[in-house]
Amino acid sequence: MASVTCTAPVNIAVIKYWGKRDTELILPTNDSLSVTLSQDILHSKTSISAQAEFDQDRLWLNGKEEDITKNKRMHNCFRETRALRRAMEEQDGSLPKLSTFGVHVCSENNFPTAAGLASSASGLAALVFALAQLYKLPIDMSDLSRIARQGSGSACRSLFGGFVAWETGKEDDGSDSRAVQIAPDTHWPELEALVCVVSDKKKGTSSTSGMQQTIESSPLMQERLRVVPGRMAAMTQAILDRDFPAFAELTMQDSNQFHSVCLDTYPPIFYLNDTSRGIIQLIHAYNKLHGGYKAAYTFDAGPNAVIYAPKENMKEIIQLIHHYFPAGQDTPRDVYFSDPYQVFQD
Ligand code: PMV
Repeated sequence: MASVTCTAPVNIAVIKYWGKRDTELILPTNDSLSVTLSQDILHSKTSISAQAEFDQDRLWLNGKEEDITKNKRMHNCFRETRALRRAMEEQDGSLPKLSTFGVHVCSENNFPTAAGLASSASGLAALVFALAQLYKLPIDMSDLSRIARQGSGSACRSLFGGFVAWETGKEDDGSDSRAVQIAPDTHWPELEALVCVVSDKKKGTSSTSGMQQTIESSPLMQERLRVVPGRMAAMTQAILDRDFPAFAELTMQDSNQFHSVCLDTYPPIFYLNDTSRGIIQLIHAYNKLHGGYKAAYTFDAGPNAVIYAPKENMKEIIQLIHHYFPAGQDTPRDVYFSDPYQVFQD
């Protein structure tokens, strides 16, 4: 029997991935860019083991067995990593034939699953990283990110710490659609992320069907595809320069455009709720009061806010959030405070 346990962090995009040009290979319609959060606070922890007696691959998620027989995405990850292992076994006959064994996966998130907190990103990144460790694959992170991408698009970015771009790529086979690190976690230590859990309910529209619906019915999506390349370049520069005002403006504009595109689909998709919109107003009012950028919000496919800000402003921001959104139903009652750095594998 061979076993391994790994953790992988959550990443929160500041230029969002939304839309696929190939749904099988998970090739995106645009480049995206994210910040990997500290995995001390938010992570997926995945243990896997392969045994000759295991006749099929099985998954236990947060302690409950899930039926993965129709989970194509997970099977993509098993298939791709097994193929690489098989090639190694064919070359070196002394290696145990792990590629022929079933794999049991036990995965836990220490935060709400499927509530727009990038749980699929950390979950699939942890799985692919664990498989690479189990099979002892001699593969670099960018190449591994092409496999993670086929599990869940945004998972490819969770294989790196710091600031990470997912390049769309030009090839139809997806060979150049991979994640690359723009700057390591140590590059901008003053930048922090505050995660406000507005709701821990499972989201109504999955990102897969939301993206499909957007591609099929949103005229505004064309405009988004026109502006994203410029935003990617500007965001990369803002990060390299540690220019918080530029970073903040682009982050908020991109989050707003992503949610506008969702609203522009027919029928519309609503990921934000009244509390989310209240947080948006609060951050704009806070910035206006100070005559500059003190904080930036962003929202994924759910109502939960992630607020990026320089460390020195965080105390005040937490106080503001607690003051205007006192604990109760649908308020940001859980506030995770995290540095954007990561340490891989436990
Ligand atoms: O990787 P998926 O299918 O969970 O999609 C993620 C989509 C967003 O979180 C909304 C944006 C992003 O870039 O992470």
